[in-house]
Amino acid sequence: MLQKLQSETLKVLFENLSYNGGFPVINPATEQELIRLKTSTLEDIDAQIEACKRAQVEWAKLSAKSRSVFLKKWFQLLVEHTEDIAIIITLEQGKPLVESRGEVAYGASFVEWFSEEAKRAYGEVIPAPAADRRLSTIKQPVGVCAAITPWNFPKAMITRKAAPALAAGCGMIIKPSELTPLTALAVMELAHQAGIPKDLLSIVVSEQAAEFGVVLSTDPRIKKISFTGSTRVGKILMKQASDTVKAVSMELGGNAPFIVFEDADLDAAVNGLIASKFRNAGQTCVCTNRLYVHKNVKEAFVAKLLNKMAKLKVANGLAADSNLGPVITMAAKHRLEAVIDQALQEGAKLLNQPKKRSGRFVEPVVLDHVEQSMAIVQQELFGPVLPIITFEHDEQVLMMANDTEYGLACYFYTDSLQRIVTFSEGLEYGMVGVNEGIISTEVAPFGGIKESGVGREGAKQGMDEYLETKYICLGGLS
Ligand code: SIN
Repeated sequence: MLQKLQSETLKVLFENLSYNGGFPVINPATEQELIRLKTSTLEDIDAQIEACKRAQVEWAKLSAKSRSVFLKKWFQLLVEHTEDIAIIITLEQGKPLVESRGEVAYGASFVEWFSEEAKRAYGEVIPAPAADRRLSTIKQPVGVCAAITPWNFPKAMITRKAAPALAAGCGMIIKPSELTPLTALAVMELAHQAGIPKDLLSIVVSEQAAEFGVVLSTDPRIKKISFTGSTRVGKILMKQASDTVKAVSMELGGNAPFIVFEDADLDAAVNGLIASKFRNAGQTCVCTNRLYVHKNVKEAFVAKLLNKMAKLKVANGLAADSNLGPVITMAAKHRLEAVIDQALQEGAKLLNQPKKRSGRFVEPVVLDHVEQSMAIVQQELFGPVLPIITFEHDEQVLMMANDTEYGLACYFYTDSLQRIVTFSEGLEYGMVGVNEGIISTEVAPFGGIKESGVGREGAKQGMDEYLETKYICLGGLS
């Protein structure tokens, strides 16, 4: 399948990388091997860090405008290779091709955005408290950075970190998920074709995720680590990074509530819920995790929801009519099955009749009679399973929605201005979707509070994550 890519560059790349003795990359839809890749070694990573350190010094000396030009070229190449990259994403990650194309555009948008933001890393002049002084600040790059990126968005989570790092004048070493290294390799190849030095932006591929995580979070030459993944692993990386007092950006797990009030536009809410819940087969950290619906509209809402859901097709992402691809591994499927079984044992009831599917495919599941105390409500599901909880009062639903250690994204649908204000302010989350189920964009700050993370990606805030503020006090003036 990889031989069928249109781009000669990418075909040659994968021919050269194919290594029989290496680790396999599996297509989750067919469970067939796509390629075997040679694993990076700890010696490789050591050499890459050293090379990055040298390259970063030179890169930081370039004008912001020059760095911007390199990023623009990278953006153009990513857009030109949209179809091939989308196919690679679907092959190794499983999402429907139409979503993969969306991810290519979304991922490229960060490169374009930060090519522009590169020119806006302003310092400031501060009114001095004494006449013989002039005070100012300048922004400087953090230095060599590391990124550990997940399998669910194998392209966008790389560009969301690498583009601001490069724009700020930093270098970066990326460790993509061992489940989806091909997209990362293609994206790197295009960066290097755009003229971004290989030593400045490099990649390590390995199944030894924990060992590489230790190196990237402890090596003193690395000044910052950015991670997208589970809260469990994020906490380990933060602990490890603390010994060298590295800067950290952590984009961790979520447990997004989706609230439907009795005054909501139910059709709009159903559309928003389906987009938010079933995108990427439920495998995004901002996916709806639990639905709260007001008792007076529950019956009507659920009828509309089930009606729409009946049209969702679960199939190989390469099929033109696929709406949901497979989940990433058999282990992920088994975990979801166990969560559903436990919820049923605790008293939940199935609202639809999901077919048992072979391989890694999972049909959407809707569970009713769910209580706030059940295990299914308290954990990140990361799959096409939707628990429904009925509520009566605003205070009650606000309390239930906030009753989690996570604080990434949340959603609610209402026509009431009063509720829009009360809930936008009262929900303890980093991102709020009001009458909207898809909120991600390169121009707005993405990130969580509580145990969902530290820092923001995208937007103007995304650059700050890779910049230090230096204060300069110019004294002795007359
Ligand atoms: C994620 O799931 O980590 C990212 C989702 C997004 O950017 O929308």
